[in-house]
Amino acid sequence: MGSDDANTILRMASLVTPMALRVAVTLGLPDRLREAGAEPDELAGDLGVAPVPLGLLLGHLTTLGFFERTATGYRTTAYGENLCGDTLTSVLLNLDTAGGRAELAFVELLHSVTTGEAGYDRRYGRGFWADLTEDPALRESFDRQMTHRLRAEAPQLAAGYDWGRFATVVDVGGGPGTALAAILAAHPGTRGRLVDLDVSTAARTFAEHGLEDRASAVEGSFFDPLPAGADAYLLCDILHNWDDEHAGRVLARCVEAARPDGRVLVVEAVGGRRGRTDMDLALLVIFGGRERRVAEFRSLAAVHGLALEGVTDVSEGRSLLEFRIT
Ligand SMILES: C[S@@+](CC[C@H](N)C(=O)[O-])C[C@H]1O[C@@H](n2cnc3c(N)ncnc32)[C@H](O)[C@@H]1O
Repeated sequence: MGSDDANTILRMASLVTPMALRVAVTLGLPDRLREAGAEPDELAGDLGVAPVPLGLLLGHLTTLGFFERTATGYRTTAYGENLCGDTLTSVLLNLDTAGGRAELAFVELLHSVTTGEAGYDRRYGRGFWADLTEDPALRESFDRQMTHRLRAEAPQLAAGYDWGRFATVVDVGGGPGTALAAILAAHPGTRGRLVDLDVSTAARTFAEHGLEDRASAVEGSFFDPLPAGADAYLLCDILHNWDDEHAGRVLARCVEAARPDGRVLVVEAVGGRRGRTDMDLALLVIFGGRERRVAEFRSLAAVHGLALEGVTDVSEGRSLLEFRIT
């Protein structure tokens, strides 16, 4: 191996820059240094950190072009502004958010690859969803992350499939309600019900979209009986968070609740279509899950009395699998 290759590999594998970016965002440096520059000595007291290490951090991120040296100290560059504000990038890099914290579970990747179990539980002593239930600030940050990530895709999801043929849709594990709100906004004849462990953000989303008369949110677990008798049960980014046993239990709850001619609709980044290999590893480490391929969905669903009717690449990053009850 040439020394160029060796250096490239070592740079790729280094944890220095990923952690430096995360710490900078967590300290709010990109926003703080956006307008006027400042020296580490001036900033350190306010931020509760040590000045010399802060200078080292800013020095490395200046090498990478996120900050620049000016007459008044370090200042955020135009490139560094990508780390500012409330964006998906800043939410994911902040170590205090659910997503940023979860990423640290990657130190347990060897454990996950060895056992197939979530590294998150090993690192933090309990599962991701239990953590969110215990800590409202983590939950709030996760709902923000979910809203950001579907902002562009929710309208595509609403337009890319014939939701109008359903009078009622239950959004199982619907989180902040971004997907259901977009679907109902595009299909005025459809009503929706969202079930999740926490529905406070969803209730706000429906109110903001003026959907209170057609959308409701109910707190509950999708491992328990679901609202019965709907035409369609939507699982958007749910099954990939679970191993086969738990994913099967969620599907069984949908089948049990649906009308006999009802549909179960799985929306995810299906493996081999929209799925990404890095997401596969993230789902493994955080949840013990993965992006399943169509054939895997077909067999898992068949065990619970569901037959695959069709697959639509419904948005930039996700496919929709339509199942009917056999
Ligand atoms: C990745 S988020 C997807 C949210 C939403 N479907 C979307 O696409 O924006 C997964 C959701 O599953 C919910 N969830 C996890 N365990 C649950 C359970 N046992 N019962 C109900 N919801 C659950 C979480 O609270 C979270 O909102």
